Amino acid sequence: MIIMTFARCSSSFAAKIAQLSILLLLLISTCTSYVSASGGVINVNYKFAGVERSLSALTAHDSLRHLRMLAGVDLPLGGTGRPDAVGLYYAKIGIGTPARDYYVQVDTGSDIMWVNCIQCKECPERGYHGLELTLYNPKDSLTGKLVSCDQQFCLDIHGSSASSCMANQSCLYTQSYGDGSFSIGYFVKDVVQYDRVSGDLQTKSANGSVIFGCGARQSGDLSSSEEALDGILGFGKSNSSMISQLASSGKVKKMFAHCLDGVNGGGIFAIGHVVQPKVNTTPLVPDQPHYNVNMTAVEVGRDILNLQTDVFEVGDKKGTIIDSGTTLAYLPEVIYGPLVNKILSWQPDLKLHTLHEQYTCFQYSGSVDDGFPNVTLHFENSLVLKVYPHDYLFPFDGLWCIGWQNSGMQSRDSKDMILLGDLVLSNKLVLYDLENQVIGWTEYNCSSSIKLQDELTGSVHLVGAHYLSSACSLSIQRAIIIFLLIVLLQNLV
Ligand SMILES: *[C@@H]1O[C@H](CO)[C@@H](O)[C@H](O)[C@H]1NC(C)=O
Ligand SMILES: *[C@@H]1O[C@H](CO)[C@@H](O)[C@H](O)[C@H]1NC(C)=O
Ligand SMILES: *[C@@H]1O[C@H](CO)[C@@H](O)[C@H](O)[C@H]1NC(C)=O
Repeated sequence: MIIMTFARCSSSFAAKIAQLSILLLLLISTCTSYVSASGGVINVNYKFAGVERSLSALTAHDSLRHLRMLAGVDLPLGGTGRPDAVGLYYAKIGIGTPARDYYVQVDTGSDIMWVNCIQCKECPERGYHGLELTLYNPKDSLTGKLVSCDQQFCLDIHGSSASSCMANQSCLYTQSYGDGSFSIGYFVKDVVQYDRVSGDLQTKSANGSVIFGCGARQSGDLSSSEEALDGILGFGKSNSSMISQLASSGKVKKMFAHCLDGVNGGGIFAIGHVVQPKVNTTPLVPDQPHYNVNMTAVEVGRDILNLQTDVFEVGDKKGTIIDSGTTLAYLPEVIYGPLVNKILSWQPDLKLHTLHEQYTCFQYSGSVDDGFPNVTLHFENSLVLKVYPHDYLFPFDGLWCIGWQNSGMQSRDSKDMILLGDLVLSNKLVLYDLENQVIGWTEYNCSSSIKLQDELTGSVHLVGAHYLSSACSLSIQRAIIIFLLIVLLQNLV
């Protein structure tokens, strides 16, 4: 996960407004979040209609209901991939009994889920886009339990180092991310509530017991309120991820898909078997910790870049990583250099500026889609990923900046890697099929809906797009208006 921080809005201005409105905010009802769903046509598809609707079929259906795998899970999404607005996507989940809502970043580049816990001293109360944040307290939840270091989950995670485990000691975790940020804490087990798909654009609440991290401390980046959330929901492939835990208890299939809406924000995130849209796939590289695939060529406009084939295999971290928790796309110098030169050769007269020592930007007044080439990434099994100029160029301060990044310039874990984030994954339905060890995608309207199939009944349901958003920014606006009215009235009196 690498989140890009490149925000335009001056935080001191925001802080002043916030100060002015604190008093008034106290008077105004607490911030709530709302979710709106949009979707396509209602398509009723009931397997037990007609001849099959015999009593035995119904009872078979009912008894299956108790054991069966879910038709799917609909995870409401918010946020945006736009780098100029701190690109990240998040989902809302309920944790504990009684359940409380938490906002977590969805990250296919990491494996565990964690939320900030009661011990966290530096955690902000308001985070990304003004979201109201909540510290989790296992003692406030009837179903919350600590995980001790001698439990199997902890032994699996820590391997041999478990020998130092003393009875009843808690199981600790340290999670570090590609951008150098980290979270430290201990594991707990509690009930997680999610929306099970129950009909077309309909869901019912369901739950499952999941082990996740209770964050006691985190690095500055994760707690800066510009990008702070309650935690991170790792959708990686290891046994410790939430999807693996739900799958091992038979609650879901190990298949999920996301469609990150780069235009409106939010989008679709669903667990289950996607039958519409159909996607072409490429195999996952086996025995890798992340979602690695084999890239085979890079095409700019109609020209294939002349690259050695070994540039796609970087060090011992082979292949290309697909990561929804990363904002941009990172390529090693040997690919980045030729790619950016080729793109810029379409407009040889541009005057280039370097912003924040990292971003190559320029002034361009025409339509970028007319003035610059499409970039097509080719993968094993003839799968292609087309990236348009409006995807890889983003506007900033009256300039256009190039979203492709040189991973040779990155530090630590992500150095020299090929890491494809939201810059190239947005506006596509990306399907992760761990049952068949493939990943695939297709261009898609992420404000529309997709179809999930229930494995046992065969019925197919529509799952629509969501845009979670915080109502806080609205109440701040309202507070400012009221404040200005009061000032105005006082001046009049
Ligand atoms: C979890 O789901 C089960 C079965 O639907 C239900 O009986 C139980 O009350 C739920 N638990 C919580 C904490 O919501
Ligand atoms: C992960 O879980 C699966 C299924 O429960 C099991 O077969 C596999 O050995 C586990 N892998 C590891 C590394 O623990
Ligand atoms: C995408 O889908 C939404 C909802 O169905 C629709 O309103 C919108 O016009 C579509 N956008 C495009 C570009 O087709």
